[in-house]
Amino acid sequence: MNEATLAIHPRYTVGPVRPRLFGSFVEHLGRCVYGGIFEPGHPTADADGFRGDVLELVRELGVTVVRYPGGNFVSGYRWEDGVGPLEDRPRRLDGAWRSIESNRVGLGEFQRWAARAGVETMLAVNLGTRGVQEALDLLEYANHPGGTRLSDARGGEPYDIRLWCLGNEMDGPWQTGHKTAAEYGRLAAETARAMRFLDPGLELVACGSSHAAMPTFGAWESTVLELAYEQVDHVSAHAYYEADPDDPGGFLASAVDMDRMIEAVTATADAVGARLRSRKRLTISFDEWNVWYQSRLPQWLPADWTEAPPISEDAYTAADAVVVGNLLISLLRHADRVAAACQAQLVNAIAPIRAEPGGPAWRQSIFHPFALTARLARGEVLRVAMDSPDYDTARYGRVPVLDAVATHDRDAGEVAVFAVNRDRARPLRLRLDHAAFAGHRVTGHTTLDDALPGATNSADAPDRVAPRAVPVGPDLVLPPVSWNVIRLARNRS
Ligand code: AHR
Repeated sequence: MNEATLAIHPRYTVGPVRPRLFGSFVEHLGRCVYGGIFEPGHPTADADGFRGDVLELVRELGVTVVRYPGGNFVSGYRWEDGVGPLEDRPRRLDGAWRSIESNRVGLGEFQRWAARAGVETMLAVNLGTRGVQEALDLLEYANHPGGTRLSDARGGEPYDIRLWCLGNEMDGPWQTGHKTAAEYGRLAAETARAMRFLDPGLELVACGSSHAAMPTFGAWESTVLELAYEQVDHVSAHAYYEADPDDPGGFLASAVDMDRMIEAVTATADAVGARLRSRKRLTISFDEWNVWYQSRLPQWLPADWTEAPPISEDAYTAADAVVVGNLLISLLRHADRVAAACQAQLVNAIAPIRAEPGGPAWRQSIFHPFALTARLARGEVLRVAMDSPDYDTARYGRVPVLDAVATHDRDAGEVAVFAVNRDRARPLRLRLDHAAFAGHRVTGHTTLDDALPGATNSADAPDRVAPRAVPVGPDLVLPPVSWNVIRLARNRS
């Protein structure tokens, strides 16, 4: 058995837990929208065609903000196609996902769904094939109270969308309308400036890098922010991870890469801010992250043009869930500089929720660490101290077997410790030093692991991989390849 120590102290904090860290993403990709959140005729569908079983799971997941409508999709999207009478909405080719877009769901429908799900919308504008004017039109349509052609066409109350993405992954050659950093930086700055003329209180996200291995990583952020620093609030980061049979330990340590990416992007943004003599500090919108079996994508992409073909509907394993839980630990640890984060995506495609056409919806393994972290991470994030054995990985060199973060809800007198054991064979005995929390004791330990780390959930076995309570004894033992949450509470006198 390995042994590690983790010390927590109420005075050493990172900052408040930001609710927007528990975001998700609904893109017009595969069956995320059609056959995911929206399936008229499904036994649980409401009058607008939204699946009630999926909505219930979204609420249980604890999602706070949802990015929409893409993703790669947005870079060729005409938002006007998705508003107005259904019979006038065109069918279009979507080159990003080689699919036919029916436009039966557009911004108005999404807003109705978001209200039912109780989530904030983070809206992306198309800066691939479009520009400043179309972004302004969309903003006027969405947020202006009325009395203009576009806002009257919306009808009803303004959507009051605060958080806007200025395009998507514009650094990627796969992106429709891909740009150089200088081209994009100018366009992002001008779009942002014009959007603020209409609505000064918006929060705007400039595109950062699509992943940390992009050849332009760092240089992209630097050039874009030189041009747009004062106009934006956040810079985006995206990262996906995939199991590698040649480096299984490296996959389990994916959060090391997320940590490094966050630290590199904030350092780059701060360096630009210093060069510009700006007092403003940007934060990161980590608006796409997850485990994603991207190497299997070519097998999923359809040969023919069809509506909502299944794409990237991989079943997630118990080990994937441990990695997802660890990525959430990384996001929480950086709550001072990561303002929002969106797990990509929500239903069916790369998703914690799966839904069969006309059939059941169920929780994938990765649903559980997200739901428990969103529910239990409350109050302040604590800066923890760890002493752990380490191991070799091909990707990241030596990494600790233990990774952890903690949150402290002072009012409730509760502490939650989120921890992973990345060791593939040995359990980890954890000495939790909480002496600084006078009068607190461990009240619960929940673990997510599986004797078969490759086990998955399915429609027939929806709870094969699920969290389980561990009896609280004198020792805290984290099983091999496990994600854990340990709860402490103040004794009531
Ligand atoms: O989430 C799937 C895709 O991954 C998104 O459309 C794109 O932004 C990223 O490359």
